[in-house]
Amino acid sequence: MRYIDLFCGIGGFRIAINQVLIAKNINPKCVFSSDIDADAQNIYQMNFGEQPAGDITQIGAEDIPEHDILLAGFPCQPFSICGQLKGFEDTRGTLFFDIARILACKQPDYFILENVKQLVGHNQGKTLKSIIEVLEKLGYTVEYKVLNALHLGLPQKRERIFIVGYRQLLPFRWDIQKIPMKPLTEILEPQVSEFYYASEKIRNSRLVKYQGKTHIEPTIWHENKAGHISAYPYSCALRAGASYNYLLVNGERRLTEREMLRLQGFPDEFKLVASYSTARRLIGNSVPVPCVVFMLNCLLNAIKNFTTDRNRVSLNSNG
Ligand SMILES: C[S@@+](CC[C@H](N)C(=O)[O-])C[C@H]1O[C@@H](n2cnc3c(N)ncnc32)[C@H](O)[C@@H]1O
Repeated sequence: MRYIDLFCGIGGFRIAINQVLIAKNINPKCVFSSDIDADAQNIYQMNFGEQPAGDITQIGAEDIPEHDILLAGFPCQPFSICGQLKGFEDTRGTLFFDIARILACKQPDYFILENVKQLVGHNQGKTLKSIIEVLEKLGYTVEYKVLNALHLGLPQKRERIFIVGYRQLLPFRWDIQKIPMKPLTEILEPQVSEFYYASEKIRNSRLVKYQGKTHIEPTIWHENKAGHISAYPYSCALRAGASYNYLLVNGERRLTEREMLRLQGFPDEFKLVASYSTARRLIGNSVPVPCVVFMLNCLLNAIKNFTTDRNRVSLNSNG
């Protein structure tokens, strides 16, 4: 199965699709990847041996190889333009336009897109409706769902919209089965260097705000925008641009790079050489691997059932 990995970041989609296809004895082949961020490109190259192409807006759709499935966790740009979408051309100026023009030119059988949950309610739902209309006009049946990584086995509350599209009349179903959450003890490193510890001043300020509430460690302390502190046996969503101390393990230290990768479901073999702030940005932008695994399994099951039904019909009609 040939796929393209758009807005690939550090490769969350790629890890998931390789994992799922190999488990089903299907050969995965990435025929094109792209990301504008030089740090993401380096880490992607380090792990997958391929340097992604750069700015997608500068790449002609006809220069992209044929593929079966398009994967894209496109950036959550301001979608203001899409409000009055009347069609494909009206999405120009958004990165969704680049996805649509590649779909229009290459017509892969399937796509999976990911974005922030807020896309659902944006502009009273008109933005998402417009996006879906564009995708339907391109010949796809489109479905979407908000998935929470917390319900798919990761100790991270991260809700994202996933949009899937397919050309044939597939019997697509959301085979939702909650996967028990991995405990934080399997995520946290037993010993971490002093570098990750917050200053005494910050730790004390968190303790004061937390007001001595009791909890069973380990927990991850989350400070919301209003300054309220909560301690959970899971992490709140990792965010690319948030303050350094909004998530603190047991109220005292930041997450390590490896812990953040684990919270996104990346395997421990994944290599990441970057400054702490770059690592936070790239991992915070990434997609939770189990959510993509779930999406791909739903899609592949639908393809399998469709093929089996079609074979059964042709057997019957042959007598
Ligand atoms: C939400 S992140 C997706 C991350 C990815 N799914 C992962 O697992 O790491 C969006 C990505 O789009 C990239 N991006 C933004 N504008 C772009 C452009 N014009 N061309 C290519 N990539 C772009 C960003 O650098 C960022 O890595």
